[in-house]
Amino acid sequence: MTDNTGSDTIPALRGRAVAEAAAAADAAALEAVRLTYLGRKGLIPALMGRLKDIPPEGRRDYGRSVNELKDAVQAAVDARKAALEEAAASRPAEGFDESLPGEWRALGTRHPISAIIARATSIFRSIGFTVAEGPDIETVRNNFDALNTPPDHPSRDAQDTFYLAGGDLLRCHTSPVQVRYMEAHEPPVRIIAPGRCYRRDTPDATHSANFHQIEGLFIDREVSLADLKGDLTHFAREMMGPGVKVRFRPHFFPFTEPSVEVDFSCHVCGGAGCRVCKHSGWIEIAGAGMVHPNVLKAVGYDRHGVCGYAFGMGIERIAMILYGIPDIRMLYENDVRYLAQFG
Ligand code: DAH
Repeated sequence: MTDNTGSDTIPALRGRAVAEAAAAADAAALEAVRLTYLGRKGLIPALMGRLKDIPPEGRRDYGRSVNELKDAVQAAVDARKAALEEAAASRPAEGFDESLPGEWRALGTRHPISAIIARATSIFRSIGFTVAEGPDIETVRNNFDALNTPPDHPSRDAQDTFYLAGGDLLRCHTSPVQVRYMEAHEPPVRIIAPGRCYRRDTPDATHSANFHQIEGLFIDREVSLADLKGDLTHFAREMMGPGVKVRFRPHFFPFTEPSVEVDFSCHVCGGAGCRVCKHSGWIEIAGAGMVHPNVLKAVGYDRHGVCGYAFGMGIERIAMILYGIPDIRMLYENDVRYLAQFG
């Protein structure tokens, strides 16, 4: 034999061709490799040309192994070609100076609602609370029944609450997290539960069908309304500043007895009276009270001889007075030019 395939077995030829393709330094070198093996006058077509010299019973096997060789070499050439092209694409352009400073990209800022949740969480953590969570889609039982809400209570109405096909609902407050948490844990309990709530409200400057609350729950052997007031006062001072005052007004909630509404003195006018507090000097921040015995019973806590307080506060409310946001809808329009001011 005169050509240099003569000394190579097919596997050896394959090894050589694949190694040469992989080592080709550039497109021209690779093309040379391709021509050597796969070109019209290349080694592999030459091998094919010898088929007629093979005894008939060996031709099938011979033909198949030459074809496999051809495919393997073609694949190696293609792979190297792709690798060379990719390397060329990522190579810096001519004249690129890597010592120049990079392009500056603006960092995102925290959404005011996330910022309030983060601050409130850290304040409550510092006095021994941990964070619990519950799902946005709730059962009627957790959202209403177990919270001692009577069957004819107006909040159950489909005009107020979003019901889903199948009977579940979008929670209208974070209070169902109380039920979930107590059913999964033994007392004592000291948790907050920040989260999103849903109500069928027509949006205006102070109403949104989406809003956020922070639920609080403290259950132990001896917990009183004084603990509630002390803890919320501590929270108010940390959140709004040392001068803020807290007052309780008697109220009614099905899940607490007694129940109160909690006002903070107006952050904007310091209590003198302004537009934000509607000239009352006070802003309503939360509902709260001592957990109703029926709630403790519904979650099986009656056997522990414990009691506790609970509260639910509006996060948007706090964000609006703290940052001077005049319209709740600004928190939901996601205009980054507006949101970039906070953080
Ligand atoms: N769930 C009530 C609401 O959305 C707020 C509330 C009031 C929560 C009293 C409580 C509570 O935990 O004890 O209006």
